[in-house]
Amino acid sequence: MSRIVAISNRVAIPTSGKSAGGLAVGVLAALKERGGVWFGWSGKTTGSEPRDPEVKTIDNIDFVTIDLNRQDFAGYYNGFSNNSLWPLLHFMVGYFTFSRSHYQAYRRVNEFFARKLMSVIQPDDLIWVHDYHLFPLGAELRRAGVDQPIGFFLHVPFPSFDVLRVLPGYRAVLSELAAYDVVGFQTARDLWAFHDCVTQPEIGGGIAKDGRVTAFGRTFQAKVFPIGIDVDDCASAAEKFSNNTQLHQLASSLEDRKLIVGIDRLDYSKGLALRFRGFESLLENYPSTRGKVTYMQIAPPTRAGVRTYDDIREGLERTAGNINGRFAEMDWVPIRYLNRGYRRELVMAILRLASVGLVTPIRDGMNLVAKEFVASQDPEDPGMLVLSTLAGAAYELQDAVLVNPYDRQSVADGLQIAIEMPLDERQERHRSMMEILRRNDIHAWSRGFVEALQTDPLTASGSLAIPNPHTLVSGIDD
Ligand code: G6P
Repeated sequence: MSRIVAISNRVAIPTSGKSAGGLAVGVLAALKERGGVWFGWSGKTTGSEPRDPEVKTIDNIDFVTIDLNRQDFAGYYNGFSNNSLWPLLHFMVGYFTFSRSHYQAYRRVNEFFARKLMSVIQPDDLIWVHDYHLFPLGAELRRAGVDQPIGFFLHVPFPSFDVLRVLPGYRAVLSELAAYDVVGFQTARDLWAFHDCVTQPEIGGGIAKDGRVTAFGRTFQAKVFPIGIDVDDCASAAEKFSNNTQLHQLASSLEDRKLIVGIDRLDYSKGLALRFRGFESLLENYPSTRGKVTYMQIAPPTRAGVRTYDDIREGLERTAGNINGRFAEMDWVPIRYLNRGYRRELVMAILRLASVGLVTPIRDGMNLVAKEFVASQDPEDPGMLVLSTLAGAAYELQDAVLVNPYDRQSVADGLQIAIEMPLDERQERHRSMMEILRRNDIHAWSRGFVEALQTDPLTASGSLAIPNPHTLVSGIDD
């Protein structure tokens, strides 16, 4: 059986207790099953030439990490990845900024990754590249002579053509995707958007009856693989940790109040300010909820150094303070806002304790917290999920209470419906959502992708012309 070589910006080495995001959980599950290598950034930067990669082997997985040059990192990660690509991929043109020097650093880091990977990759490995930080990596590896299957999975949404073309050099992104054998998306909508982009007259691509895409002289598969979770692992972590002291303290501090819980990275795409206002509307419009519900939002800070991220932190503190000031009583504070992360098992147990899971991103590739909330519930008395229609998870979890995150009244009404929902309806909705979670779990995701990568006969042909993306970035060649 071929090894998998997974490559992503961050590598989550499983050191006990550190909570891992969706990408990390998914990559780890794929690697555990077949063994292989996980390659990426070490989390460290250096002022001088980066040292050789460090290798740490745990069971059947080699974690290979490299430092990055400090300046390149700033342009690649803070700059192009998170100030250009992230906002565009989340349809937030207002947050988009662009600088040629950042773009050049992004290209340099991708070339650097490809160079370092050449001593890691073996001839029959399956190569699986993850996420928007590494769009050009496949083309770089091809240029370096790698001719085995290379797949790419986009964990975040894919935007419509009119949003994508805001990016100077957007053709490069499309041509870089064409260098892969399989390109995976989270939802059908992302795939449609990609189809729409490659079939624009100026791109000139086409879609065959069997779904294969032809563009930039290449034919490749583009498919939907909705990322899932390890359902049993979530459920058992939630149950086991229900006896944890911290959880007991939380439960007793609630007294008889219902807990509404939100758990998100502190990111503008998560819509936290709107969410706080939606909760405020609940207290305004449904006065019977005052003193009877507690909303706990856990939001660990992320991407320190990217200005927009530092700014939202301040804004949210003000909003939470404002709502608490308006509604708090001597013995009740409506919002508990926690700016830190907790270990995964405790998070699962908190989700299980909650009566309502509030997941209202203004755009999200999937959102695994929504899935984890459902999986961690007690089937006999499950809490109810209030979910944004703009999260990828809403395509599968149609039995959640679906709300538009921009409409605070919709969020408030959704919360009230979830709070009041009778037990038999909660059980029925929970059962049907669990069926979907099991069908599309993390193993189905990784197996489905790897299968597609293995069965692509086009890879063997070796006759594929790879355009040099540099030449496609109109005007960006200095
Ligand atoms: C999203 C992205 C991942 C990223 C994660 C955390 O889920 O899809 O690629 O790793 O956010 O963001 P960070 O910038 O901290 O790695």
